[in-house]
Amino acid sequence: MVKNKYAFFRGEIRPIEEAKVSIMTSALHYGTGVFEGIRAFWNKEEEELFVFRMREHYLRLLRSARILLIDIPYSADELCHITLELLRREGFREDVYIRPIAFKSGEEIGVRLHNLESELAIFAVPFQLYLPEGGIRVMVSSWRRVEDNAIPARAKITGAYVNSALAKTEAYLAGFDEAIVLNEDGHVAEGSAENIFIVREGTLITPPVTANILEGITRHTVISLAQDLGIPVEERPVDRTELYVAEEVFLCGTAAGLSPVVEVDRRKIGTGKPGPIFLRLQELYENVVRGKVEKYRSWCTPVYSSPAR
Ligand SMILES: Cc1ncc(COP(=O)(O)O)c(C=O)c1O
Repeated sequence: MVKNKYAFFRGEIRPIEEAKVSIMTSALHYGTGVFEGIRAFWNKEEEELFVFRMREHYLRLLRSARILLIDIPYSADELCHITLELLRREGFREDVYIRPIAFKSGEEIGVRLHNLESELAIFAVPFQLYLPEGGIRVMVSSWRRVEDNAIPARAKITGAYVNSALAKTEAYLAGFDEAIVLNEDGHVAEGSAENIFIVREGTLITPPVTANILEGITRHTVISLAQDLGIPVEERPVDRTELYVAEEVFLCGTAAGLSPVVEVDRRKIGTGKPGPIFLRLQELYENVVRGKVEKYRSWCTPVYSSPAR
Protein backbone atom coordinates (compact mmCIF):
# COMPACT_ATOMS: atom_id res chain seq x y z
CA MET A 1 0.00 0.00 0.00
CA VAL A 2 1.59 3.25 -1.15
CA LYS A 3 1.01 6.13 1.26
CA ASN A 4 3.17 8.73 -0.42
CA LYS A 5 1.93 10.87 -3.26
CA TYR A 6 5.10 12.40 -4.70
CA ALA A 7 8.72 11.83 -5.64
CA PHE A 8 11.46 14.16 -6.73
CA PHE A 9 12.56 12.70 -10.06
CA ARG A 10 14.16 14.13 -13.21
CA GLY A 11 14.52 17.58 -11.71
CA GLU A 12 11.05 18.09 -10.23
CA ILE A 13 8.52 16.92 -7.70
CA ARG A 14 6.01 14.74 -9.57
CA PRO A 15 3.19 12.36 -8.74
CA ILE A 16 4.75 9.08 -7.58
CA GLU A 17 3.12 7.22 -10.50
CA GLU A 18 5.25 9.22 -12.92
CA ALA A 19 8.56 8.31 -11.20
CA LYS A 20 9.38 5.14 -13.12
CA VAL A 21 12.52 3.70 -14.72
CA SER A 22 13.08 1.34 -17.63
CA ILE A 23 13.95 -2.33 -17.15
CA MET A 24 17.08 -1.50 -19.17
CA THR A 25 18.40 0.83 -16.45
CA SER A 26 22.05 -0.02 -15.87
CA ALA A 27 21.84 0.19 -12.05
CA LEU A 28 19.05 -2.40 -11.95
CA HIS A 29 21.41 -4.92 -13.52
CA TYR A 30 24.72 -4.03 -11.93
CA GLY A 31 23.86 -2.54 -8.51
CA THR A 32 25.49 0.75 -9.45
CA GLY A 33 23.52 3.14 -7.32
CA VAL A 34 24.05 4.94 -4.04
CA PHE A 35 21.39 5.84 -1.54
CA GLU A 36 20.56 7.26 1.87
CA GLY A 37 18.09 6.55 4.60
CA ILE A 38 17.05 9.67 6.49
CA ARG A 39 14.39 10.00 9.14
CA ALA A 40 12.06 12.79 10.08
CA PHE A 41 10.42 12.67 13.49
CA TRP A 42 7.02 14.11 14.38
CA ASN A 43 6.95 16.29 17.48
CA LYS A 44 3.35 16.32 18.77
CA GLU A 45 3.73 19.20 21.20
CA GLU A 46 5.19 21.53 18.58
CA GLU A 47 3.14 20.05 15.72
CA GLU A 48 6.35 19.99 13.75
CA LEU A 49 8.25 17.42 11.70
CA PHE A 50 12.03 17.45 12.27
CA VAL A 51 14.46 15.94 9.77
CA PHE A 52 17.42 14.50 11.67
CA ARG A 53 20.98 15.37 10.54
CA MET A 54 19.77 15.83 6.97
CA ARG A 55 22.83 17.72 5.73
CA GLU A 56 25.19 15.00 7.04
CA HIS A 57 23.17 12.37 5.17
CA TYR A 58 23.41 14.34 1.94
CA LEU A 59 27.14 14.91 2.43
CA ARG A 60 27.49 11.12 2.76
CA LEU A 61 25.38 10.60 -0.38
CA LEU A 62 27.73 12.93 -2.26
CA ARG A 63 30.76 11.02 -0.94
CA SER A 64 29.19 7.68 -1.95
CA ALA A 65 28.46 9.14 -5.40
CA ARG A 66 32.07 10.30 -5.75
CA ILE A 67 33.26 6.73 -5.16
CA LEU A 68 30.91 5.36 -7.87
CA LEU A 69 31.57 8.24 -10.29
CA ILE A 70 27.92 9.24 -10.15
CA ASP A 71 27.32 12.86 -10.96
CA ILE A 72 24.76 14.51 -8.65
CA PRO A 73 24.16 18.03 -9.95
CA TYR A 74 23.07 19.41 -6.56
CA SER A 75 24.87 20.54 -3.43
CA ALA A 76 23.99 19.12 -0.01
CA ASP A 77 22.11 22.33 0.77
CA GLU A 78 20.11 22.11 -2.45
CA LEU A 79 19.23 18.48 -1.68
CA CYS A 80 18.03 19.59 1.77
CA HIS A 81 15.81 22.26 0.19
CA ILE A 82 14.34 19.74 -2.26
CA THR A 83 13.63 17.32 0.58
CA LEU A 84 11.88 19.96 2.67
CA GLU A 85 9.75 20.96 -0.32
CA LEU A 86 8.83 17.30 -0.95
CA LEU A 87 7.88 16.75 2.70
CA ARG A 88 5.74 19.90 2.73
CA ARG A 89 3.91 18.72 -0.39
CA GLU A 90 3.25 15.37 1.31
CA GLY A 91 2.08 17.08 4.49
CA PHE A 92 3.11 14.20 6.77
CA ARG A 93 2.15 14.47 10.46
CA GLU A 94 3.91 11.30 11.58
CA ASP A 95 7.41 9.79 11.61
CA VAL A 96 8.81 9.48 8.10
CA TYR A 97 11.59 7.63 6.28
CA ILE A 98 13.22 9.52 3.41
CA ARG A 99 14.98 7.62 0.64
CA PRO A 100 17.25 9.51 -1.77
CA ILE A 101 18.86 7.37 -4.47
CA ALA A 102 21.29 8.26 -7.25
CA PHE A 103 22.05 5.67 -9.87
CA LYS A 104 23.54 4.89 -13.27
CA SER A 105 20.50 5.39 -15.44
CA GLY A 106 22.01 4.71 -18.88
CA GLU A 107 20.02 2.06 -20.73
CA GLU A 108 22.90 0.05 -22.14
CA ILE A 109 24.27 -3.43 -21.73
CA GLY A 110 27.83 -3.42 -20.34
CA VAL A 111 29.13 -3.25 -16.81
CA ARG A 112 31.02 -0.05 -16.10
CA LEU A 113 30.84 3.27 -14.29
CA HIS A 114 32.14 5.56 -17.04
CA ASN A 115 30.18 7.11 -19.91
CA LEU A 116 26.79 6.44 -18.37
CA GLU A 117 24.15 8.98 -17.36
CA SER A 118 22.98 9.25 -13.76
CA GLU A 119 19.68 10.11 -12.19
CA LEU A 120 18.55 11.16 -8.74
CA ALA A 121 15.26 10.40 -7.03
CA ILE A 122 13.95 11.20 -3.56
CA PHE A 123 10.78 9.93 -1.96
CA ALA A 124 9.48 9.69 1.58
CA VAL A 125 7.15 7.17 3.20
CA PRO A 126 5.62 6.87 6.65
CA PHE A 127 8.08 5.11 8.95
CA GLN A 128 7.53 1.50 9.95
CA LEU A 129 9.24 -0.15 12.90
CA TYR A 130 12.45 -1.77 11.61
CA LEU A 131 13.45 -4.06 14.50
CA PRO A 132 11.34 -5.46 17.34
CA GLU A 133 11.30 -3.27 20.45
CA GLY A 134 12.50 -4.31 23.90
CA GLY A 135 15.59 -6.31 22.94
CA ILE A 136 16.67 -8.37 19.94
CA ARG A 137 18.28 -11.79 19.52
CA VAL A 138 21.13 -11.87 17.02
CA MET A 139 23.51 -14.38 15.46
CA VAL A 140 26.98 -13.94 14.02
CA SER A 141 26.49 -14.43 10.31
CA SER A 142 28.32 -17.01 8.24
CA TRP A 143 28.61 -14.27 5.59
CA ARG A 144 31.55 -11.87 5.77
CA ARG A 145 31.39 -8.10 5.31
CA VAL A 146 32.37 -6.70 1.91
CA GLU A 147 35.97 -5.45 1.85
CA ASP A 148 36.98 -1.90 1.03
CA ASN A 149 38.92 -3.20 -1.97
CA ALA A 150 35.95 -5.23 -3.23
CA ILE A 151 32.84 -3.12 -2.59
CA PRO A 152 33.55 -0.24 -0.21
CA ALA A 153 31.21 -0.41 2.80
CA ARG A 154 31.81 3.26 3.58
CA ALA A 155 29.77 4.11 0.49
CA LYS A 156 26.08 3.25 0.69
CA ILE A 157 26.06 1.32 -2.59
CA THR A 158 22.87 -0.45 -3.69
CA GLY A 159 24.77 -3.55 -4.90
CA ALA A 160 26.55 -3.92 -1.55
CA TYR A 161 23.20 -4.59 0.08
CA VAL A 162 23.23 -8.09 -1.38
CA ASN A 163 25.74 -8.71 1.42
CA SER A 164 23.34 -7.25 4.00
CA ALA A 165 20.37 -9.17 2.56
CA LEU A 166 22.22 -12.50 2.66
CA ALA A 167 23.13 -11.95 6.30
CA LYS A 168 19.71 -10.65 7.37
CA THR A 169 17.79 -13.48 5.72
CA GLU A 170 20.14 -16.12 7.06
CA ALA A 171 19.45 -14.76 10.56
CA TYR A 172 15.70 -14.51 9.98
CA LEU A 173 15.45 -18.07 8.64
CA ALA A 174 17.41 -19.31 11.64
CA GLY A 175 14.91 -17.65 14.00
CA PHE A 176 16.94 -14.55 14.96
CA ASP A 177 16.02 -10.87 14.64
CA GLU A 178 19.25 -9.63 13.12
CA ALA A 179 22.77 -10.62 11.98
CA ILE A 180 26.16 -9.40 13.12
CA VAL A 181 28.66 -9.53 10.30
CA LEU A 182 32.40 -10.09 10.74
CA ASN A 183 35.18 -8.78 8.49
CA GLU A 184 37.36 -11.02 6.41
CA ASP A 185 39.93 -10.65 9.23
CA GLY A 186 37.41 -12.06 11.72
CA HIS A 187 36.65 -8.90 13.67
CA VAL A 188 33.17 -7.54 14.25
CA ALA A 189 32.04 -5.10 11.56
CA GLU A 190 28.37 -4.25 12.07
CA GLY A 191 24.78 -5.44 11.77
CA SER A 192 23.12 -5.94 8.38
CA ALA A 193 22.03 -2.30 8.37
CA GLU A 194 23.21 -0.97 11.74
CA ASN A 195 26.45 -0.11 13.48
CA ILE A 196 27.30 -1.89 16.70
CA PHE A 197 28.40 -0.85 20.19
CA ILE A 198 29.41 -2.99 23.12
CA VAL A 199 30.03 -2.00 26.74
CA ARG A 200 32.95 -3.45 28.67
CA GLU A 201 33.80 -2.25 32.17
CA GLY A 202 31.68 0.82 31.62
CA THR A 203 33.42 1.83 28.38
CA LEU A 204 31.45 2.10 25.16
CA ILE A 205 33.36 0.38 22.36
CA THR A 206 32.68 0.37 18.63
CA PRO A 207 34.69 -0.84 15.61
CA PRO A 208 36.67 1.90 13.83
CA VAL A 209 35.66 3.40 10.47
CA THR A 210 38.41 1.34 8.84
CA ALA A 211 36.67 -1.94 9.83
CA ASN A 212 34.57 -2.15 6.62
CA ILE A 213 31.58 -0.44 8.18
CA LEU A 214 29.23 2.22 6.95
CA GLU A 215 30.31 5.43 8.67
CA GLY A 216 26.96 5.68 10.38
CA ILE A 217 25.40 8.97 11.33
CA THR A 218 23.62 7.38 14.29
CA ARG A 219 27.00 5.91 15.33
CA HIS A 220 28.43 9.42 15.29
CA THR A 221 25.40 10.70 17.21
CA VAL A 222 25.79 7.98 19.87
CA ILE A 223 29.49 8.78 20.30
CA SER A 224 28.70 12.50 20.73
CA LEU A 225 25.87 11.84 23.22
CA ALA A 226 28.03 9.39 25.21
CA GLN A 227 30.87 11.88 25.43
CA ASP A 228 28.44 14.55 26.65
CA LEU A 229 27.11 12.13 29.28
CA GLY A 230 30.68 11.46 30.45
CA ILE A 231 30.67 7.83 29.23
CA PRO A 232 34.13 6.82 27.97
CA VAL A 233 34.16 5.81 24.28
CA GLU A 234 36.74 3.74 22.40
CA GLU A 235 36.90 3.06 18.66
CA ARG A 236 38.92 -0.12 18.25
CA PRO A 237 38.72 -3.59 16.66
CA VAL A 238 36.18 -5.82 18.43
CA ASP A 239 36.60 -9.61 18.68
CA ARG A 240 33.64 -11.94 18.16
CA THR A 241 33.89 -13.35 21.69
CA GLU A 242 33.81 -9.84 23.17
CA LEU A 243 30.16 -9.86 22.10
CA TYR A 244 29.57 -12.86 24.38
CA VAL A 245 31.21 -11.35 27.45
CA ALA A 246 30.15 -7.72 27.04
CA GLU A 247 27.97 -6.13 29.74
CA GLU A 248 25.83 -4.61 27.00
CA VAL A 249 25.51 -4.80 23.24
CA PHE A 250 23.35 -2.58 21.05
CA LEU A 251 22.85 -1.75 17.40
CA CYS A 252 22.14 1.68 15.99
CA GLY A 253 21.07 3.11 12.68
CA THR A 254 18.65 5.53 11.14
CA ALA A 255 15.96 2.90 10.60
CA ALA A 256 16.69 0.85 13.72
CA GLY A 257 17.22 3.75 16.13
CA LEU A 258 19.03 2.42 19.20
CA SER A 259 18.21 -1.27 19.56
CA PRO A 260 19.38 -3.33 22.55
CA VAL A 261 20.77 -6.82 21.88
CA VAL A 262 19.78 -9.27 24.62
CA GLU A 263 21.21 -12.43 23.11
CA VAL A 264 24.13 -13.23 20.74
CA ASP A 265 24.52 -16.77 19.36
CA ARG A 266 22.18 -18.02 22.13
CA ARG A 267 24.32 -16.45 24.86
CA LYS A 268 22.52 -14.02 27.14
CA ILE A 269 24.06 -10.53 27.21
CA GLY A 270 24.45 -9.09 30.72
CA THR A 271 21.20 -9.69 32.60
CA GLY A 272 19.31 -10.44 29.38
CA LYS A 273 17.63 -7.04 29.57
CA PRO A 274 18.58 -3.66 28.03
CA GLY A 275 21.54 -2.34 30.07
CA PRO A 276 21.85 0.96 31.98
CA ILE A 277 24.22 2.68 29.54
CA PHE A 278 21.99 1.76 26.63
CA LEU A 279 18.91 3.06 28.45
CA ARG A 280 20.54 6.42 29.22
CA LEU A 281 21.64 6.85 25.63
CA GLN A 282 18.32 5.74 24.18
CA GLU A 283 16.30 8.13 26.31
CA LEU A 284 18.50 11.05 25.31
CA TYR A 285 18.51 9.98 21.64
CA GLU A 286 14.70 9.79 21.49
CA ASN A 287 14.43 13.33 22.83
CA VAL A 288 17.25 14.66 20.64
CA VAL A 289 15.76 13.40 17.35
CA ARG A 290 12.41 15.05 18.06
CA GLY A 291 14.07 18.42 18.65
CA LYS A 292 13.39 18.35 22.39
CA VAL A 293 16.95 19.00 23.56
CA GLU A 294 18.06 22.57 22.95
CA LYS A 295 21.76 21.67 22.78
CA TYR A 296 21.23 19.40 19.77
CA ARG A 297 18.45 21.35 18.12
CA SER A 298 20.76 22.28 15.22
CA TRP A 299 20.67 18.60 14.15
CA CYS A 300 16.92 18.85 13.60
CA THR A 301 15.54 20.74 10.60
CA PRO A 302 11.88 21.75 11.01
CA VAL A 303 9.86 21.00 7.88
CA TYR A 304 6.89 23.29 8.28
CA SER A 305 8.46 26.32 9.95
CA SER A 306 11.61 26.43 7.75
CA PRO A 307 11.63 29.27 5.23
CA ALA A 308 10.49 28.03 1.78
CA ARG A 309 13.14 27.76 -0.88
C1 LIG B 1 25.30 -1.36 6.57
C2 LIG B 1 24.84 -0.26 7.45
N1 LIG B 1 25.54 0.03 8.55
C3 LIG B 1 25.17 1.03 9.38
C4 LIG B 1 24.04 1.77 9.15
C5 LIG B 1 23.67 2.88 10.07
O1 LIG B 1 23.96 4.12 9.47
P1 LIG B 1 23.13 5.42 9.80
O2 LIG B 1 23.20 5.59 11.26
O3 LIG B 1 23.83 6.51 9.07
O4 LIG B 1 21.75 5.19 9.33
C6 LIG B 1 23.25 1.49 8.02
C7 LIG B 1 22.03 2.24 7.76
O5 LIG B 1 22.04 3.17 6.99
C8 LIG B 1 23.68 0.47 7.14
O6 LIG B 1 22.96 0.17 6.06
